[in-house]
Amino acid sequence: MNKEAPPSPNPVDRPADLRAECITAPRPDFCGIERPGPCGVVIFGACGDLSKRKLVPSLYHCFAAGHLPDGLFIFGSDRMETGDAGYRSLMEGAVRAAFPETFSPDLWLKFSEKLFYENADFNSPDFFVSLPARLKPLEEKFGTRSNRIFYMALPPAVYETVIRRLGGAGLASEERGYSRIVVEKPFGYDTESSRHLNGVIGASFSESQTFRMDHYLAKENVQNILMFRFANSIFEPLWNRRYIDHVEITISETLGVEHRAGYYESAGVLRDMFQNHMLQLLSLTAMEPPAAFVSERVREEKVKVLRSIRPAPLDRLSEHVVLGQYGGGSINGEDVVSYKDEPGVDKNSTTPTYAAMKLFIDNWRWSGVPFYIRSGKRLGAAKAEIAIRFRAVPHLMFSNFLPNNIDPNLLVLRVQPDEGISLQFQTKMPDSRACLRPVLMDFRYEKIFLLDAYERVLLDCMTGDQMLFVSGEIEELTWGLLSPVIERLECMKDSFRFPNYPAGSNGPAEADDLMLRDGRQWRAL
Ligand code: BG6
Repeated sequence: MNKEAPPSPNPVDRPADLRAECITAPRPDFCGIERPGPCGVVIFGACGDLSKRKLVPSLYHCFAAGHLPDGLFIFGSDRMETGDAGYRSLMEGAVRAAFPETFSPDLWLKFSEKLFYENADFNSPDFFVSLPARLKPLEEKFGTRSNRIFYMALPPAVYETVIRRLGGAGLASEERGYSRIVVEKPFGYDTESSRHLNGVIGASFSESQTFRMDHYLAKENVQNILMFRFANSIFEPLWNRRYIDHVEITISETLGVEHRAGYYESAGVLRDMFQNHMLQLLSLTAMEPPAAFVSERVREEKVKVLRSIRPAPLDRLSEHVVLGQYGGGSINGEDVVSYKDEPGVDKNSTTPTYAAMKLFIDNWRWSGVPFYIRSGKRLGAAKAEIAIRFRAVPHLMFSNFLPNNIDPNLLVLRVQPDEGISLQFQTKMPDSRACLRPVLMDFRYEKIFLLDAYERVLLDCMTGDQMLFVSGEIEELTWGLLSPVIERLECMKDSFRFPNYPAGSNGPAEADDLMLRDGRQWRAL
């Protein structure tokens, strides 16, 4: 009988024992970043938070790295009354803040020559009617061949007006160059509003002109999910109900609602994270191999998975969905206030900042395999990952020796931080008679990626590649799954006892019960 300590019941907390080594190969030419052709990027909402935090810094960074075409200008418009010089100085502050260590005044000077601005009242058709004449001299100067990208960095309430006016002013026409529209999330508020928005867009822009954003799709290790699954022959045969016990998808944040209460109060976590990022991660994990790695084929397979998700039973929602809202607590040693005490939040708010769901996919591959998905703000750790828990071995021949059951294999795709993939398996404890220990084989991306998610999607939009964007059909399907659940939960909101988890914790205890009832446990955050 072995006298050594039994294996830890929670081996996933252990440091990696093994490291995977990259077999380095020269980078083939086609692996580089494709430099797009000339175009003008028109940003509506050019002074807003998204433009300051993401869009203009990303364009600057692409410019600094030489990924932008020479023929490119950025034309911003918003309500703020300023001219080109005022806008350039506003954006200089934003770019400096985004790249405090690497900001180069010389590069900025060159980049800022591409920035232009005009204040606009988006409710008035005049601005849109005069836009082509305003863009024309810039298009001639920068040789952009009338290729135009219209980026909607606006509050969703304004989308419809702006899209209709663009169409009305003939700006969706592709007679001379391309015309593309980028629409940020949230794409609608429920099934009906997303369908309506699709209709408004479709009245002027075709599907191939429409780029619906989900920045999670552009994260490096999310793009890697399909590569990992379909470029390796050893995992795909196991990727099904016969070998997989369950799948866990987590996006946890330490951040709170920050300054976005206005939006978040009416959205909550299900609209903010589940309708988009969470269901996108789920569909990439669960889809069948597409016939080709092109956007139409990949989207088709995602559609099939989404159509196969079993609608949550509305009369027994508590068995499938848990909601939470953070109370005060401590994150990384700093005290933080409860959601209800955040600026702009209603003191009696019932908006959920956490949700956990159990879903089933009713198809041959996944029949009976639960997908547990959870996301929340102000949790104990910030991370996004997909964990595939394999089934236990069918017969434990070591039962005479081992006091505990052995942990089944676990494959974790880490989306962020510390992007990589780890596989946990059992090995014999050295020098023991028959003692087992779990070890991790761990692959980590070693370097900082060349492009961040916004840089990737901006470049893809310029090259016309829709792989990392969401189709109108997928938006409607994901809303179709969540809207009935959200509506039902909203009817029950008087019974919510919020806050039900302290900031800095793992989330509400009821979320643990969701898995414990099935004899399972969430991975530690
Ligand atoms: C956004 C949500 O889509 O994603 C935010 O609106 C959330 O609430 C953010 O914080 C998370 O993205 P990331 O890239 O920081 O994980």
